[in-house]
Amino acid sequence: MRNFITVEGCEGVGKTYQMRMLKQYCEENGYDNVVFTREPGGSDIAEQIRRILLDANNSAMDDLCEAFLYAASRIQHLKDIVKPALCQGKVVFCDRFVHSSYVYQGIGRGLGLDKIVKLNELAVGEYMPEFTIFLDLSPEQAFKRKGGADKTDRMEAVDYAFHLSVYQGYKQLIAEHPERFEVVDASGSKEQTQAKLREILVRRGIIR
Ligand code: TMP
Repeated sequence: MRNFITVEGCEGVGKTYQMRMLKQYCEENGYDNVVFTREPGGSDIAEQIRRILLDANNSAMDDLCEAFLYAASRIQHLKDIVKPALCQGKVVFCDRFVHSSYVYQGIGRGLGLDKIVKLNELAVGEYMPEFTIFLDLSPEQAFKRKGGADKTDRMEAVDYAFHLSVYQGYKQLIAEHPERFEVVDASGSKEQTQAKLREILVRRGIIR
């Protein structure tokens, strides 16, 4: 879907920070047709689902239940935020989207990529991103930079092997569909990563 851009990466890669810097840049430069949002969450009901998903007390959650809750949050968020904004001709940047489900639930949890792709086809229909920016940093480097995993976050608290398989999952998706991704090396400074991100957006005609 034109003007729908998603941003992906492992925990601690600095996605949220990069999105904040980009938002600030857009505001300062008069791009008032840009919406920044995130998943899971991004709208009232979807944020309530986010709280259930990330609550470390919910450690007994079934993997398939988890996959459906991410998809449920996505359906609501698309309805409340993404679809209306795109209809109004806005550009939407979304911090995580279906590719997170593919790698975290399909590969990391081992539910199977095909199953999770099908579930998400039902959830998103034609609303697939125009392209996806992948902030590339291994979980080893990311957790080192972050000072370890946040154990109060149910997903972050999963073991290192899980996060490694998530990272390898992203690499697999990129190798299979390189045309869908823009890969940004996120191992440099925050400013360097931001500059690379903006270069892509200029090349893609999203900003000048
Ligand atoms: P965040 O920390 O980037 O806000 O994302 C919340 C967590 O949810 C993160 O650990 C990745 C995970 N996640 C999934 O497992 N599947 C999904 O579909 C999405 C959107 C996020």
